[in-house]
Amino acid sequence: MTRHFLRDDDLSPAEQRDVLELAARLKREPFAERPLEGPRSVSVFFDKTSTRTRFSFAAGIAELGGSPIIVNPGEAQLGAKESIGDTAKVLSRMVSLIVWRTFAHDGLEEMAAHATVPVINSLSDDFHPCQILADLQTIRERKGELAGLTATYLGDAANNMGHSYLLGFATAGMRIRIAGPEGHHPRPDIVADAERIAAETGGSVEIFTNPALAVAGADAVITDTWVSMGQEAEKAARIETFAPYRVTSELMELAARDAIFLHCLPAYREYEVAPEVIDGAQSVVWDEAENRVHAQKALMTWLLAQA
Ligand code: CP
Ligand code: NVA
Repeated sequence: MTRHFLRDDDLSPAEQRDVLELAARLKREPFAERPLEGPRSVSVFFDKTSTRTRFSFAAGIAELGGSPIIVNPGEAQLGAKESIGDTAKVLSRMVSLIVWRTFAHDGLEEMAAHATVPVINSLSDDFHPCQILADLQTIRERKGELAGLTATYLGDAANNMGHSYLLGFATAGMRIRIAGPEGHHPRPDIVADAERIAAETGGSVEIFTNPALAVAGADAVITDTWVSMGQEAEKAARIETFAPYRVTSELMELAARDAIFLHCLPAYREYEVAPEVIDGAQSVVWDEAENRVHAQKALMTWLLAQA
């Protein structure tokens, strides 16, 4: 059975641990694994813009011995002229992995249903699981054992990052708190999935409306843009809605004394996070960005080894 990585819970707790362990090793020894030697090719599709995902996959694929084929919006027949299923069948004859950043998550499910090579979600409207692996690697580097740590994500709790923190952090056995305004809470089915996982791993899931209560004593404080790709037309309203969730130094003072701050980037210092937080001593955002390379190399190596 070909394994895919479309949602954070596509990896079991033990599998997630293995991938994070390998990510740590690849950070120390970047060329220790060469599963794409040949070079074998990897297609990397973008329906949305990207900096970190584009460069981290291109660099990571090259470091694994492979060759990335980057496809920008509108450059392939996919979507406009050719079905997702036909694209999946053709690409499975040509490349070793398919990486896709897109809008609707069910497109990725359709790709995976027809592909005989692993499909990786590099961001959909619903999940961003590659980012969560990098975040977990970053937290582990600073705090050691993940299980039992408390992480609070504030802001747009109904977006891809909110959903992925629920699933990915519950899988790691963490206590995940999500805080956002009424009407922007995570999807109930994803909360239920995270609660089921947390019950197995010893983690926990809590949903808050009050940002101060959500942050109290947290080991990690996390936010994301209030205006995700595709939501640009709603910018003015969203900035007003999410304003109480801005991460300021006053809010950080409510967290644990040695709390760290994470943000997947790109960040807006005038909205979701104050400059003194993202550019301050508690911020680990640059390690978090770098870890995209190591975590995704580990993920690709692991998926190829399952084939
Ligand atoms: N964090 C992240 O995925 O960044 P990009 O949108 O630049 O890829
Ligand atoms: N929620 C953001 C994440 C960007 C990496 C978006 O989808 O635009």
